[in-house]
Amino acid sequence: MEVHLRVQRFHPQVDAEPHWQEYRVEVPEHATVLDALLAARDEQDETLTLRCSCRSHICGSCVMKVNGTSCLGCKTKVSHARKRLAAGEPIRVAPAGNLPVVKDLAVDLEVFFGKVKAIEPYLQPDGPPPEREYLVPNEAMLTVREAMACILCGCCVSECNSLEVEPRFLGPAALAKAWRFTEDPRDAADRHRLEFVSAPGGIWDCTHCFACVEVCPKDVKPMERILELRRRAMEAGFTDNNGARHSQAFADTIAESGWLDETRVLSRSLRGLPELLEWAPVGMRALLRGKMPLRHRRLSGAKQIRAIFAAAQRRSGEPPREHAPGR
Ligand code: SF4
Ligand code: SF4
Ligand code: FES
Repeated sequence: MEVHLRVQRFHPQVDAEPHWQEYRVEVPEHATVLDALLAARDEQDETLTLRCSCRSHICGSCVMKVNGTSCLGCKTKVSHARKRLAAGEPIRVAPAGNLPVVKDLAVDLEVFFGKVKAIEPYLQPDGPPPEREYLVPNEAMLTVREAMACILCGCCVSECNSLEVEPRFLGPAALAKAWRFTEDPRDAADRHRLEFVSAPGGIWDCTHCFACVEVCPKDVKPMERILELRRRAMEAGFTDNNGARHSQAFADTIAESGWLDETRVLSRSLRGLPELLEWAPVGMRALLRGKMPLRHRRLSGAKQIRAIFAAAQRRSGEPPREHAPGR
């Protein structure tokens, strides 16, 4: 079958701006987007640059955006990529997002791997090493098995909305890796790891957009790992930060009044005048756009909402939190 590709080309040392180039190639019915790109490179344009190795979604090399969504080129069938396109519309292929382009579809992974290294992705056991090996019962590893499937492809990082605006964010892949070690029964560095990921640029920078969960080719579910890290970090007492305060204030204002009270969430999340002043422009914008009403209508069911919170706390075994009736 003939495949019509529109590929984003960019050579930073030569081009001022990225530009699109079109290719038409013949490939078998079962071909992947990577197969089509390789055919274009081998038969028509040897300057087309891309990265790949296994062609079997194992090595994690071929991250790219196909029709605007991050994926592995070798796991994305041409037939699938065509499904949502109008007749005659080309398949658009662009480099991964949130990573600098080296050339065309090849991106620089140095920052990506730097963040993975920063979470110390190796076991840190306590005490003397065992005589032969660490023995772990199978059931103890069941929870970490999914996260161990990560192939460090970067699809999640490419799609992460938070990284687009905050490049210092550790990102979904590194945080899922951090979770994997906090859950490993052989590792004894939990507190150190939880403290590290609670710092600015860590777990509290995720916006729960689900994009990383949707695009991960190995079902690692990074966002769920991040939420679990948050729970564990708060349980371990790492609550003196804006993220933990925001999370608590979010729940508290709903428990108190039935509403998410943005004004009080903001004031309770931040510490001190300098922080309040720093966020004042955001607050003003939210106020002017009606996103932060100064007063919410009193909800008739607020009492029941407080009862739901109290019941949930009793069930979770958390120490009870008093929720006074709100405004
Ligand atoms: S859920 Fe969080 S980590 Fe995942 S893509 Fe969205 S912002 Fe990034
Ligand atoms: S978590 Fe998933 S998408 Fe992210 S690097 Fe690992 S395998 Fe790739
Ligand atoms: S080439 Fe190895 S994952 Fe695509």
